[in-house]
Amino acid sequence: MLEQDIEKILVTPEQINEAIQCLGKKLTDTYQDEEVLVVGILRGASIFMSDIVRAMDVYADLDFMAVSSYGDATVSSGEVKIIKDLDSQVSGRNILVVEDIIDTGRTLKYLVELFEHRGAKSVKVCTLLDKPERRVHKDLIPDFVGLEVPDEFLVGYGLDFKQKYRNLPFIGVLKPELYR
Ligand code: IMP
Ligand code: MG
Repeated sequence: MLEQDIEKILVTPEQINEAIQCLGKKLTDTYQDEEVLVVGILRGASIFMSDIVRAMDVYADLDFMAVSSYGDATVSSGEVKIIKDLDSQVSGRNILVVEDIIDTGRTLKYLVELFEHRGAKSVKVCTLLDKPERRVHKDLIPDFVGLEVPDEFLVGYGLDFKQKYRNLPFIGVLKPELYR
């Protein structure tokens, strides 16, 4: 049913899993001697978060934060607002921010600065997808990237259009007539 709304599949479940296993090895290397607080950004990163933490063989705490920069639009409004803050302390800890996708970079730029301001020992960024063409904050360079994707509006595996399609097992491009 949902698949009828998809123009093309860009990343298959197998490719997503491959990217996650590869990221998991790098993250395991990075944090093998240190504890890490993994912060998933709701709601988009929730599905990626649950897979990536199981690919990391390290001592990790999990927490979530909700921010908004989009509303229900397909283009970023440029503002970042905290909807739900962390329950965990940040000061003195290694923070790994887990995102579904980096577009303009505004959300992560804001979050990295916030965690630095709160006294984190280190702040690193892991994103499943990166749209480098769209970057406004060129200085925002994610530490761990699963896959680079072209400048198209994507849905699935956590990514939504008007809160729908997050539960697709692949990442695809929506038929343009659905959002025009
Ligand atoms: P940024 O602040 O512009 O980097 O936007 C990042 C956020 O925008 C992500 O957490 C996503 O929720 C959302 N986003 C960016 N590109 C897409 C897309 O292609 N499909 C769905 N959501 C997107
Ligand atoms: Mg998001």
